[in-house]
Amino acid sequence: MRGLAAGNWKMNGTGESLSEIKALLDAAPSPECDILICPPATLLSRMAALAEGTVLKIGGQDCHAAGSGAHTGDISAAMLVDAGASHVILGHSERRANHGETDAQVAEKITAAQAAGLTTILCVGETEAERDAGRALEVIGGQIDSSLPDDVDAARLVVAYEPVWAIGTGRTPTPDQISEVHDALRARLSDRLGTGQIRLLYGGSVKPSNAAEIFALHNVNGALVGGASLKADDFAGIIAALEAAS
Ligand code: 13P
Repeated sequence: MRGLAAGNWKMNGTGESLSEIKALLDAAPSPECDILICPPATLLSRMAALAEGTVLKIGGQDCHAAGSGAHTGDISAAMLVDAGASHVILGHSERRANHGETDAQVAEKITAAQAAGLTTILCVGETEAERDAGRALEVIGGQIDSSLPDDVDAARLVVAYEPVWAIGTGRTPTPDQISEVHDALRARLSDRLGTGQIRLLYGGSVKPSNAAEIFALHNVNGALVGGASLKADDFAGIIAALEAAS
């Protein structure tokens, strides 16, 4: 399976940050993996213009389930497409925690985003308390079951395992812990969707120094990177590690 190195810029970046995209494209003009950056909505169009004709794909960080209407501050899937996006992250733990997003809402968003032609990156992951209680696999399995709509198009689905306690903390799970979750995700998705071809990303404090160890794991097909995607040098290092692993 071709790897995917995806960057989630979260609420970071203004026009001057676009220089990092130029530097990234210079550093990795034709990588042996797919590359995606999900900037804040305000940068989507400008970044898409820079990415045109290159290998870089652009994605949103969320979308509304409705096509249009009285939803102040929200963005529809069609608007993301209009701005040049081909992907959208849905169900990120920061959306779930900060905006109270439920699995059912995430499922509706996946349906809407796929109907608009977007590839959806569904995020799942346990909190530290859930892991300490021995409930990580149960929590993640429940999120997969309830966040995937029945009509999901497997060909437009990527799943990211992002343990909440590893996001932005510099802490990462052990290789065994990542493998346990990714193997369970692979089995559950194969059961539900009848395909073993869904790309599984790991996310949470991925950086150039730990990327090779993570990409060496079976059933890890790439990464969803926060902080280290903001700097071209760091993200290029992660891309190089993914190329070397494939
Ligand atoms: P960090 O790489 O900054 O830990 O963020 C991970 C993440 O949440 C990506 O979506």
